[in-house]
Amino acid sequence: MPDGMRFLLEEIAGLELLGIYKVERDVVGIARKIDSSKTKMEQNLNMSLKELIKNNQNESFKSTYFGVPAIKSPADFWIYHEIIFEVKPDVIIEIGTKHGGGTLAYSHLLNNLGNNGRVIGLEIDSNIVDKTVRVQPNITIIDGDACSNFEKVKKLIKDTDKVLIIEDSSHTYENTLNVLNIFSGLVTKGSYFIVEDSNCWHGLDHGPSPGPYEAIETFMKDNNKFEIDSSKERFIITWNPKGYLKRIK
Ligand SMILES: C[S@@+](CC[C@H](N)C(=O)[O-])C[C@H]1O[C@@H](n2cnc3c(N)ncnc32)[C@H](O)[C@@H]1O
Repeated sequence: MPDGMRFLLEEIAGLELLGIYKVERDVVGIARKIDSSKTKMEQNLNMSLKELIKNNQNESFKSTYFGVPAIKSPADFWIYHEIIFEVKPDVIIEIGTKHGGGTLAYSHLLNNLGNNGRVIGLEIDSNIVDKTVRVQPNITIIDGDACSNFEKVKKLIKDTDKVLIIEDSSHTYENTLNVLNIFSGLVTKGSYFIVEDSNCWHGLDHGPSPGPYEAIETFMKDNNKFEIDSSKERFIITWNPKGYLKRIK
């Protein structure tokens, strides 16, 4: 190690011992000294948007809703709450529930709307769904592949129900497109089909390729029933670029 570098590291270690500096790894893994008198945000004001997106994606895997893991971007979740208040759906279909933190959040939001709204969660391996989620009176979990269970879902919906769908399952191009084609007819006019994780290779450098983003583009080609509502991407950072599809006809 060059002498200059050793001196610098010793200096940082010394200052760290005195409580003046901490050494931390930033989101791209580069060690640097941190001024502990500053907040985390102040320390990262020069971070690029790409680094911030990566950081937020990693942190979302640690998120919970009422104690149940919920893999959600907080900014998108706020948008969902605004959409749910605006649309006032009778039914929210969540495709891919995993532990069910998101499912539980939609159930609570519908309870607060006071319209007896319910959530239908589809999960290929429903053993993973948390007990807190299963016992909610307004949540129905359907086990198995989402597209194969379409008829079961349809039977749970009345003609008069306002329906909103959130797709968050395998994120492969084929499955996302199938889900869009098979389930989109259930979405009522004025409501939304939200496709999650279209940020794969469109913000993030990983995930299926082609993935949800490309499936949305294929679905939207020659489609006059839905439009991409980019106003819902107003926080700029979103896991769902082009993924807020509003039914207009
Ligand atoms: C990203 S996680 C869902 C996260 C959850 N929506 C949340 O907010 O925390 C994706 C889930 O989709 C499920 N899944 C994958 N392919 C599926 C399919 N074809 N049908 C139903 N569920 C599927 C997986 O088992 C996994 O639990």
